[in-house]
Amino acid sequence: MWWRDAVLYQIYPRSFADSNGDGIGDLPGITARLDHLQWLGVDALWLSPIHPSPNADWGYDVADYQGVHPDLGTLADFDVLVAEATARNLRVVLDLVPNHTSDQHAWFQDAIKSTDSPYRDYYVWADPKIDDAGVAGPPNNWVSSFGGPAWTLDDASGQYYLHNFLPEQPDLNWWTDGVRDAFDDILRFWFDRGVSGFRIDVCHMVVKDKELRDNPPVPDDAHWYERLRGQSQVYNADRPEVHDVIRRWRGVADGYDPARMLLGEVYLLDINRMVRFYGERDDELSLAFNFNFLHNPLDAASLREGVEIVEGSIPPHGWPAWTGSNHDVSRFPTRWAEGDAAKTKCALLMLLTLRGTPVLYYGDEIGMEDTEFRKEQLRDPVGQRFFPVYAGRDPCRTPMVWSDAAGAGFTGAGVEPWLPFGSLARNVDAQRDDPDSILTFCRDALAVRKELGDLRGAPYEPLETGDGVWAWRRGQAAVVLNLSDNDAVVDGVVGTIRLATVRGREGESLQGAIRMGPFEGALVS
Ligand code: NOJ
Ligand code: CA
Repeated sequence: MWWRDAVLYQIYPRSFADSNGDGIGDLPGITARLDHLQWLGVDALWLSPIHPSPNADWGYDVADYQGVHPDLGTLADFDVLVAEATARNLRVVLDLVPNHTSDQHAWFQDAIKSTDSPYRDYYVWADPKIDDAGVAGPPNNWVSSFGGPAWTLDDASGQYYLHNFLPEQPDLNWWTDGVRDAFDDILRFWFDRGVSGFRIDVCHMVVKDKELRDNPPVPDDAHWYERLRGQSQVYNADRPEVHDVIRRWRGVADGYDPARMLLGEVYLLDINRMVRFYGERDDELSLAFNFNFLHNPLDAASLREGVEIVEGSIPPHGWPAWTGSNHDVSRFPTRWAEGDAAKTKCALLMLLTLRGTPVLYYGDEIGMEDTEFRKEQLRDPVGQRFFPVYAGRDPCRTPMVWSDAAGAGFTGAGVEPWLPFGSLARNVDAQRDDPDSILTFCRDALAVRKELGDLRGAPYEPLETGDGVWAWRRGQAAVVLNLSDNDAVVDGVVGTIRLATVRGREGESLQGAIRMGPFEGALVS
């Protein structure tokens, strides 16, 4: 179970490094930057989808699961990436998108041609529902996660097809054996090519209610994120039968040596529902993301509560996964820290020292922030739809900042990147040799994590603190975070400061208590 000791690093392929000067990041670009990841000390890279796609949802609308998008390179480039990563002890994890395909996928193109297509039942089709007034409409009340009805009418057949995301992303019908078999083959295709695991897109959603029943209204006390849709996703997500599918994937993954990892995007904020995806026995996901951090402020009490709910409900065979940023949300150096370096270091210290597998997002290591967008620069359909209330996801997807030179070390000088650069002030070159930088802190935290087995394996035990402070023990190590504007003292901490957000304090020995300034964090052992 290599993933339990690992730190994962998510790459948004179009935004990491452009090798051929077309303004789009690509696989050879990633290969050329593997030395950075090895130097940083992460263990595996997860690539957001790399497959051919018309990019209605920037790769999350897959047109061919066994190919590489020409913008990103070729299958041969991918093989080189895996070989070069392996040579540096880095594993490669891909993104699997089993809930839906692109509408340009050959299966859907065939399915929409006729109701007799052998691929028709690869998708979810239903006749219109006639209401009391005799008016025809969508088969049920389900709404898309991106807003609007989850059904689009196909005029030719008179039937609707289901899409829990964009109309260009028709949902697959996981009640069909052909779909199940096809995905077994897709998994094996990539595992055989040296892929170490998959992050699985909306994996709690793939199976829908066979009877397509209406969703009930959302309860008033539900989380705001659930209230957004105005309905509880009772029948279009988290169905009991989804676990059969996950067990099946796990069977495929376990057929390999070493076993391949399945990291699920189980976007359920109710942790008791989320943890079921580890299986009743150890036969489902290897890891499931915790998204509570994405919805909580940098506040000691609420972060601690989120962690302790997970610690209290995850089964003994489960293992948590923590993340502060990804390609769908505001980056944590902006969301939590508003650009403040001390807060950013506190957040990194937390993510890298909890019990579980941390997943960093490219740029987290330099405290990369969100980029501001004007409407005409937006390329995410979600942002285009909800601007200016919500700029969507482009602000967290802009090119990696390697240097402050023209092109930011991402692409050639004068080349227009596919998304605009944000601030170049925080960049890898400038931070690499600065002992006080976020990058140096992140690298040192990763090194301490490698060195102290307790930081990986030992249980999480909270320590008593005053308000605004969160502290916990991991075996011989203790982590103290003062997430308040006041000075704080935490008792019961003995040893030497091994890593501190105020770097000058490292080496200080403690006689039973630690005094911390505002937004200061330390690791003691
Ligand atoms: C979750 C992904 O993280 C997001 O980027 C995507 O738009 C949806 N799933 C649909 O695939
Ligand atoms: Ca390129």
